[in-house]
Amino acid sequence: MECEGDVQSSAKGFYCKLCDINAPNKLSLQEHLKGKKHQHLCRLRAKRKAQAENSIFVSGFKPDTSRTELAEYFQQYGPVSEVIMDKEKGVYAIVEFSETAGTQSALAQLEHRMDGLKIRVKPRERKDFALASKEKHDTKRPHISLEKLNYEICQAASVNEQMLKVVESFQLSENDQKARELLVQLLQEVFTEFLPDCQIVPFGSSVNTFGVHSCDLDLVLDLEHTKAVQTQGKKSEQTGENQSEDGRSEDSMLSDIDLATASPAEVLELVTAILLKCVPGVHKVQSLSTARLPVVKFSYRELSLQGDITINNRLAVRNTRFLQLVSGLDSRVRPLVYTVRFWAKQKQLAGNPFGGGPLLNNYALTLLVIFYLQNVNPPVLPSVEQLKNLACEEEQCVIDGWDCSFPSLPLRVPTSKNTEDLCALLFGFFTFYSKFDFPGSVVSLREGRALPITDFLGRDEAMTDTPEGSDQKQKQITGPKLGPVNILDPFDLHHNVAGNVSERTHRNFHRECCEAEKYCRSQQYHHKSAKGKSWGLVRLFAPHDGGSQSKDGKEKTLDISIPFRASILSESLRKELGSAGDAFRLHWFGKLCTAVETVFKDVLKCTPAEEPANNQHQTKSGKDEEEEVNNNKSPTTTGQQVTTHSGVKRPLPVEESPSSSSSPQGKRQRLDPCAQHPDKSHWSLAQRHQVWAGRRKVRRDLLKKSEESAEPEGSCSSIESRVTQCIIEKEADPRDLLEFRVDAAVVGGGESTKAVLKFSSTNDLTGHFQDFFHFLESFLPKMVDTLLAKLQ
Ligand code: UTP
Repeated sequence: MECEGDVQSSAKGFYCKLCDINAPNKLSLQEHLKGKKHQHLCRLRAKRKAQAENSIFVSGFKPDTSRTELAEYFQQYGPVSEVIMDKEKGVYAIVEFSETAGTQSALAQLEHRMDGLKIRVKPRERKDFALASKEKHDTKRPHISLEKLNYEICQAASVNEQMLKVVESFQLSENDQKARELLVQLLQEVFTEFLPDCQIVPFGSSVNTFGVHSCDLDLVLDLEHTKAVQTQGKKSEQTGENQSEDGRSEDSMLSDIDLATASPAEVLELVTAILLKCVPGVHKVQSLSTARLPVVKFSYRELSLQGDITINNRLAVRNTRFLQLVSGLDSRVRPLVYTVRFWAKQKQLAGNPFGGGPLLNNYALTLLVIFYLQNVNPPVLPSVEQLKNLACEEEQCVIDGWDCSFPSLPLRVPTSKNTEDLCALLFGFFTFYSKFDFPGSVVSLREGRALPITDFLGRDEAMTDTPEGSDQKQKQITGPKLGPVNILDPFDLHHNVAGNVSERTHRNFHRECCEAEKYCRSQQYHHKSAKGKSWGLVRLFAPHDGGSQSKDGKEKTLDISIPFRASILSESLRKELGSAGDAFRLHWFGKLCTAVETVFKDVLKCTPAEEPANNQHQTKSGKDEEEEVNNNKSPTTTGQQVTTHSGVKRPLPVEESPSSSSSPQGKRQRLDPCAQHPDKSHWSLAQRHQVWAGRRKVRRDLLKKSEESAEPEGSCSSIESRVTQCIIEKEADPRDLLEFRVDAAVVGGGESTKAVLKFSSTNDLTGHFQDFFHFLESFLPKMVDTLLAKLQ
């Protein structure tokens, strides 16, 4: 049963390709090969193989042809055991004979005709069984979760290794690629039925070596040859000659449209009709004829993927070829592109999930990486102009007037002398773009350098001044659409691939590059943490803090207000506050801050946020954390607290004076701003556990076991802290979940006095900040009130 070919040796011992499992040694391998699962799959494979050998692929019949009619027709070549038809559209069928002889005679027949139509008969495609069985599993595999990715890259030994793991985690698997190829084949077959000699050519991330699971399938429908066929057909018609011999014109939709004169909208309409009516599994078809490049979008159920079809977009096919070449020139290109793409996605700088949008598209981002690699010293990649000069005669290529020549094989390009590793190159990428003068420059991969924007200004004006001329003449004087970010396409030198990018995206890109650059200088970027803490790429991949900004770009704060409520306070505290006169506000605020701190530290078991290595880390709000550490005080009754470790404070006894004390780290306390601002306080904290998840259930179970009376949530701090402890103990694998900052202030006066606590995430590696905040919104005020009520 062909077992030997199924096994290969692997890092983990042996790997059985058929069953997709590893066996650590020969003995367990033998057991596996004799086992039920392997034997069953072997039998199934043998059956499928026989089925495939006995069947043929048939297309080109009339749409209303039935299975019985097909079976009757093919009986003449041998007994037919089954006819499988694509149910939805009836475009193709698989006819299975009882014996191989039937297949052979049907295939040997030169021409098949049914109802006067010439039909196509081909051998059935034989899929590798193991691939076929994994295909669905792989192509529908969900995106790797950020937590899993972080966990995996944390295990790597170096940033270089982390970057390779990023590629491994995201790249399209062989099965993904195979499935896409099969879909392209299917589309090719169907479209050829209606548009003879057309070509369906994939481009973009499915084939440019930078694809990720479930990325779009970008396709070009090349109709140049079809146009020629049509023109030829028309001439024959006029001269009264026979129509095309293979009968194409009889069943072709081509008769409905003249490709030479049709508008893009008309062609797209035709493509839409073919997709909808004739391609099984295709749905959600939408034509966008007014886009810069008119496109038909569709979804393909079986692979759960989105596809785009543009017409005659040969430049895109060529620039995809260029990206393939570049990726083959140096093995560092792919890890860098994948890492930068993922970083940019996390920071919401690139992606534009619905096509055009204000962010960078992935193509533009990839060009930015290439441009940077052209500009490091010594360069990792040559300029496009240098590549052009290395192209031989057969590689000369001009599309739409643009020179797209470059060597077809990486071998023909001299190897780079640059020896920097991935870790250094990534750091360099952020440094390069944190300093790059986007407003004053145009990125030119063609020349491999930044061109002054002044060279491009006024080109539009020049165009309006010019009387109507030839296309060529117009091309020489029109320029790219300029914007906050200008990246010239390597071939179409009038196209700014970042033309859609907004000023805000530009600002964010610059800011994120600066932050990343700063982080890359720290020990945490370069060295694996011995304590299992996040390091290297993990912190770079922390999602953009969506909560801190609202849609209009203004700072959005997550606030929790806790009003002053005299009624919940103890009698003695009420009296004490009453006797403080106007100062009661600060007095109450001091008590409240102590309660808030107790909730975070004792009830929710938050820990001090780790201090950045160089103590210079900028928070999102632009504040310097050095200042933050020294200012990390909250007022108690006297408005004095001291930092016990970075970011956490302990109330000082009244008699302890901050000026005479120093923190355990020996830091001298600077001027005490809280003494001047006793109406404010802040904390920097970390939460390593999802203490909010499933909390109610844990609480219920705990109360049941201990037979304590069912108290409402937040009414007893000791129960709540036990709930937290239970959750922590259940969580097997604590990691840095999130770090956040709380800024508290007392506002209002008299009856309407209240404390406002502003929350912002300073390091949200797994995107849990919002969930945590929502939990705090109800939990924190209740808990604080409970604690305040107990104070005498
Ligand atoms: P995308 O930006 O979609 O890149 O452009 P991608 O690599 O396919 O990434 P996904 O799909 O977001 O994962 C797709 C292709 O479209 C062409 C390029 O060939 C690019 O590879 N393109 C895109 C252009 O020619 N010009 C553009 O301005 C944008």
